[in-house]
Amino acid sequence: MSGKEIGVGIIGAGTVGGGVVKILRDKAEMLESRTGCKLNIVKVANRSTGKLDALGLTAPVATTDIDEVINDENVDIIVELIGGTEKAYDIVEKSLNAGKPVVTANKALLAERGTPLFNIAKENNTPLGFEAAVAGAIPIIRSIRDGLVGDYLQNLLGIVNGTCNYILTQMMEKGQAYGDALKDAQELGFAEADPTFDVEGFDSAHKLAILSSLGFGTNVEFPKMHVEGISKLTLSDINIAQELGYAIKLLAVARPDNGKLFLSVHPSLLTKEHPMATVSGSMNAVSLFADAAQEAMFYGRGAGEMPTASAVVSDIVEIARNMLCGCASLRWAPFDKNKFEVGQMDDYNCRYFVRFSVKEDFGVFGTIATILGKHKVSIASALQKEKSDDIIPIVMVTHTAREGDLKAAISEIDNLKFVSEKTGILRIES
Ligand code: HSE
Repeated sequence: MSGKEIGVGIIGAGTVGGGVVKILRDKAEMLESRTGCKLNIVKVANRSTGKLDALGLTAPVATTDIDEVINDENVDIIVELIGGTEKAYDIVEKSLNAGKPVVTANKALLAERGTPLFNIAKENNTPLGFEAAVAGAIPIIRSIRDGLVGDYLQNLLGIVNGTCNYILTQMMEKGQAYGDALKDAQELGFAEADPTFDVEGFDSAHKLAILSSLGFGTNVEFPKMHVEGISKLTLSDINIAQELGYAIKLLAVARPDNGKLFLSVHPSLLTKEHPMATVSGSMNAVSLFADAAQEAMFYGRGAGEMPTASAVVSDIVEIARNMLCGCASLRWAPFDKNKFEVGQMDDYNCRYFVRFSVKEDFGVFGTIATILGKHKVSIASALQKEKSDDIIPIVMVTHTAREGDLKAAISEIDNLKFVSEKTGILRIES
């Protein structure tokens, strides 16, 4: 820091890095008046020079050497935007150990290796900002950390993957098959060429790990989460769910129940009146229930150059303001450390949408209902479609049931001779 100037070093000049350079450069005057000091781009590192050239960056600001950024004495804040969990870890670790505050948008890094990094940040009394790691431009980290600091969270539902939300919206609104909707998402640039990470729920799970650590004071619990994506959803299930008044969303859910914290990413039904049911296309949203604040919902763009860059800049400014008054903030601060044990899904309690696929026979409906009852699963509503082909779908919506009990009933039912396909379940969230 020199006088009223703070030096920023950016590592990674891809989509988001480019957006950060544009905001810091094009809004320099506005940011100076809002921050109380000049934010100077001192160094920008990128593996290839093409991106640096495209941003109009030249030496000595532009470099291909990451260490040049970390070691430059005029760089006060390091912005890590290269992604991945290996090199990025080294960058963040080295910077924090050098006493330089770090801003990152790297959800995988924080979800998988966040605990040691936040410990290093704490030991060095050096901030680590990560607003951009979850839900892009939505200021959800700051809202949970600061806005709801006097609350206990009681429920968190997140639509935090735009690719999945786009695909599901197309399936619901246009009747597109999963494969066609995915192809469209790829053509529109939402989905990656290899969409596995998004559609199988891992991207959402990384974000949930971060949100739940912050919101429930646990250490990041990524490996203990239940993760289920959208690739196995059928249009037929979606159509029946819609007929019954439900929308389908890939939800990241964190909910304490009976002293345990359930952390799960799964395709979920929501009644069409639920505010999260109206979040469509590639938009993101997080809905919370907190003991004092009660309901709160946050909606916005979860990805993209400028929305994500906006969140990165918000951390840079917060850190710069704190540096000016000589204090550190943005530290990981689990307030009830390890209060919760992570619950197993067998102990999860909710209402379920259960789709049986059966062949025509006497007493099928009654047999299914009897077995469910024997396992303490009560039916709230039921629907059987008249079909001319061999496979007849029967859908039952249950009252709140324990998942382990429902699974035991289904495993008994699936062994019966009239069942033609494995029974599918979808959780109904509220
Ligand atoms: N691939 C993510 C999405 C954005 O589709 O929302 C980055 O997390």
